[in-house]
Amino acid sequence: MGFFKRKNNNMSYEVASPNGRIVATFSLQDGQMSYTVKKDEKIIIRKSRIGFELKYDRPIVNNLIAVRTHERQSRDTWESTWGDEKLITDNYNELAVYLSEEDGAKRLVTVRFRAYDDGVAFRYEFPVQNQLKQMAIVDEVTEFAVDINSEAWWIPAYQPDRYEYNYTKTQLSLLTRPVHTPLTIQSTTGHFVSIHEAALYDYGSMTIKRIGDKLVSDITPLSDGIRAYTELPFNTPWRVIMIAHNAIDLLKSHILLNLNEPSKIKDTSWIKPTKFMGIWWALHLNEMTWGSGDRHGATTENAKHYIDQCKRLGIPALLIEGWNKGWDGEWINHGELFKFTEAYPDFDLKKVVKYAKDNGVELIAHHETSADVKNYELQLEDAMKFLQQYGIRYLKTGYVGSRMNKTEYHHSQYGVRHYQKVVELAAKYNLMLDVHEPIKGTGIERTWPNLMTMEGARGQEYEGGALSPSHACILPFTRLLTGGMDYTPGIFDLNNSVKRVASTLARQLAYYVVIYSSMQMVADRPQFYADQPAFKFIKDVPVDFEKTVPLLGSIGEYVAVARKDRNSSSWFVGGLTNEEARRINLYFDFIEEGVTYVAEVYHDGDGAHYRDNQFEVQIQELAVRKGDHLDLYLAPGGGFAIKLRAQ
Ligand code: NOJ
Ligand code: CA
Repeated sequence: MGFFKRKNNNMSYEVASPNGRIVATFSLQDGQMSYTVKKDEKIIIRKSRIGFELKYDRPIVNNLIAVRTHERQSRDTWESTWGDEKLITDNYNELAVYLSEEDGAKRLVTVRFRAYDDGVAFRYEFPVQNQLKQMAIVDEVTEFAVDINSEAWWIPAYQPDRYEYNYTKTQLSLLTRPVHTPLTIQSTTGHFVSIHEAALYDYGSMTIKRIGDKLVSDITPLSDGIRAYTELPFNTPWRVIMIAHNAIDLLKSHILLNLNEPSKIKDTSWIKPTKFMGIWWALHLNEMTWGSGDRHGATTENAKHYIDQCKRLGIPALLIEGWNKGWDGEWINHGELFKFTEAYPDFDLKKVVKYAKDNGVELIAHHETSADVKNYELQLEDAMKFLQQYGIRYLKTGYVGSRMNKTEYHHSQYGVRHYQKVVELAAKYNLMLDVHEPIKGTGIERTWPNLMTMEGARGQEYEGGALSPSHACILPFTRLLTGGMDYTPGIFDLNNSVKRVASTLARQLAYYVVIYSSMQMVADRPQFYADQPAFKFIKDVPVDFEKTVPLLGSIGEYVAVARKDRNSSSWFVGGLTNEEARRINLYFDFIEEGVTYVAEVYHDGDGAHYRDNQFEVQIQELAVRKGDHLDLYLAPGGGFAIKLRAQ
């Protein structure tokens, strides 16, 4: 636990993780705050300064004294509403340092640290005080001094396509522009570190830039350059440093959820993970259109056809895009034209709702905003009431556009406030959300479990040239550390001439296990699932798990994950490789002792290849028991999926 040292007139306070292996130290030197992080005596983050610069006010950086400290231990287990793990252990030791300026206005700030076995988090808290009522934050200077010679996987920040980029792997010393978090780093000490944030509310999202030999926070500014306007009391998001010995162990962390508050939705019985098909991929292939006309996708007739197919294939829900007015013309630049309570004349919502209900299929509504948040917010509450009146319980939103209202970054305080407003209003109208072009995940779905899933990375909509097989082998160690993703898996029409998909068929199945999403798409047009034995896996795979066991992986090369169904004794395993073929020796150490399981194995055939032999898949059944192992072949751009059914 934390203790207090005084030496050379400097003060430092330590807090160690429950197993004692991770230690964060907070120091004051001549009134300037800093911290360090160590694991097993090795320095992960060397001395890093922290502080704030304010408009109209002196900076809060030096001139500080510690008034008191408070230490606390917490050992807890909580149950998730849905997710990749039912019971989540939340054990940490906490140190709060209450600080005051030594002279002048004597403004107050608290720095709160939590040390977990899988990382360290800290945040700044500004309590109510007469000497400071509001802040216009010009800069939050939080340094993360990891060794600059370490390698990292990053996507650029402040770009027009928000988070939808391919990852680059370089040494941190070569960073020349701000990058998004999570920033995953293979440190020169041999550890895997990922820097991110938790509980992002009412503040700009943190990006990271390099200044000299240090990484420093760069909070996304508003268009006037201010990072955030706040009223006191105010707590910043948690600054989080995940630390693991192996890349695959990063996937075991629930630190982001643990740093968020329990559910604010009291009755969560209406919240249900689901799989869904969509009037969707046909739009992206330009076989149908979002807008009105001969090829309009969201017609009453076509919706009924898709509902029939959902029923036939056993997929419980259907997304319908292009149902509402506003898509005609250049919709990307004309978000002001979207009407969220007016359907196109050839789409009879009442009839479609009834038909869906009669056939036991849930509808998922869609609100594309083209990032015109002003237009959306004007209609928001009416739009949600409208859906509730029709008994619609799921909603996909979208924010295509390089800036909100053509001025503000999606990941600025403006964007953060908007996304939160939608989440809370959706909760009021019992709507579950799948947010595309979202703010990054920071674990708030623990508090708002109607926030089912998000996009927030390059997904399969970029197939047709802009996705390589290595991308999905990076995502689990980066974007997916922050929560579920709507990657839109399950494309079976792999060699389509408009969008060729860089994948084998078995790999499409693997995505359902590797890339968790509590709303999981079955993304292709229904006719492509007919007569496909591999479709059985998609039908069987659940969207809510009791337990997750990340098995093996190397960032950008391969990954394999096992998950146990929350509602049965079955296990599901998925694995991916990059452009390289490889063999994986899978040990069934995770299944229950003494039970024989029937393994339904879907894997690449010997000649399979993501470029020119995508459909060669082998489906086998074999009996396995705990301790058995299986040697699996993964083709270039391939993968495997296994269902284990207890006998
Ligand atoms: C981008 C979304 O990611 C995609 O899923 C959607 O179909 C289009 N925008 C249109 O809203
Ligand atoms: Ca998108």
